[in-house]
Amino acid sequence: MNSKLQKLFEEAVSWIHRSNTDKIRVVSHYDADGISAASILFIALYREGFDVHVSLMRNPFTDGLERVRRERNEFIIFSDMGSGQIPIIKDFDSRIIILDHHQPLDHTPIDNILEINANLCDIKGDSEACGASLSYVFSSILNSKNRDLIPLALTGITGDKQYIGGIKGFNKEIVEEAVDSKQVTMYKGIKSIGETIEDALYYTVDPYYPGISGNRDGIKHLLMRLHIDPDQNLETLSEIQKKKLYSYLLLILMKTGCTPIILDTVIRERYSSQLTHGEIEGFSDIIDACGKGNQRDLGFAVCIGDEEAYRESLSFHRDYNQLLLDELQKLELQGAEERKYYRYFYSEDSSRSGVIAGIAVNYLFDDKKPLISLVRHKDELHISSRGNQRLTEKGLNLGLAMREIAMKVDGHGGGHKIAAGATIPLDKEEFFLEELDDILRKQIG
Ligand code: C5P
Ligand code: ZN
Repeated sequence: MNSKLQKLFEEAVSWIHRSNTDKIRVVSHYDADGISAASILFIALYREGFDVHVSLMRNPFTDGLERVRRERNEFIIFSDMGSGQIPIIKDFDSRIIILDHHQPLDHTPIDNILEINANLCDIKGDSEACGASLSYVFSSILNSKNRDLIPLALTGITGDKQYIGGIKGFNKEIVEEAVDSKQVTMYKGIKSIGETIEDALYYTVDPYYPGISGNRDGIKHLLMRLHIDPDQNLETLSEIQKKKLYSYLLLILMKTGCTPIILDTVIRERYSSQLTHGEIEGFSDIIDACGKGNQRDLGFAVCIGDEEAYRESLSFHRDYNQLLLDELQKLELQGAEERKYYRYFYSEDSSRSGVIAGIAVNYLFDDKKPLISLVRHKDELHISSRGNQRLTEKGLNLGLAMREIAMKVDGHGGGHKIAAGATIPLDKEEFFLEELDDILRKQIG
């Protein structure tokens, strides 16, 4: 492993061992990566005898962080967040460890904060490390017993889509360890959710197969042509049937103009484990749905191994995906508003809108512009922005763009080059739309 990172992890472990408290506060992000990271830390710290209190937060973290500040915790670990919140948390009367992969801010070192950020250790936080992979390696150094939590690290990697372009760098070491230790099995195939092929196709929103996802008639028609029983389980298909089905699905995506890098993610190496009840992308989708669908506790309970919670999460996930499908179908039909350097659309719910933008940018539109979703909520405008690898290679940095605009209008914004968000006052909507075109022109024009 990267020696800079190794040293920081060791220092973090010594902070834990030297702490004079038996309580540790864990604060993490509310998506699949954040929930996986928090679950890893919760189990690892609980095993060390700590009393652990976890909160899963969403952007902007202002109210949540204010509550945490008032708790006067002696020791806090932030995972999958923290680096961007240093201006707020530096004044907390707590010892703080940060395990983050979002773009860090410039600042001078702060005594009570140990900031472990992948980007500060020459690891690409967008594509080579996530909150869960950092939390996993830290936990495995804290105690090698925690190596059994490795499927949760893969859940975070998958949740943050860091398989796009192939699993790389720091993440790759973890995935190799997971396979070598036989805690996960690897096979090649499509994402697997649900019991039957019909359900697997119906509820697959990412990839979004136009005419198939959310379309029972389309699925029945397709499966009839391929002589496949819709009630069959995906695993029980013969190799020839699989080949036919996969080729057809790829053809649909190629026809919609999907880029090769995204096509490569559809049929790819899959990982499956007992802890994740099977295929890890399907599992990570369920956790993400719980987090973004206001069921964060349920997602967390599933990750720490609660069987009843898992059963409940399955039906919750179906309902959540139906909401995504409804919005995606609407967007497919109506299209998005065009600006010179981006496209945008309005959506209803700020947590779902980011997910929808992330899917639509890859499956509904060409790859020339990033896609922005806007949600008007009370006196605020919630913005999610999603790009693609081709654009980031050209210079797109949505995290910087969001932060820059948000700072100008007294809002909050930030994130990754390829996926970022902001919350700004509603009356700044026009300003935002103009300013974004200008910033993007400089980045990719
Ligand atoms: O909210 P959304 O899902 O669009 O966020 C995308 C990414 O941008 C996430 O990684 C999130 O942490 C980051 N973000 C941020 N500051 C915000 C909103 C989002 O750093 N105010
Ligand atoms: Zn993350």
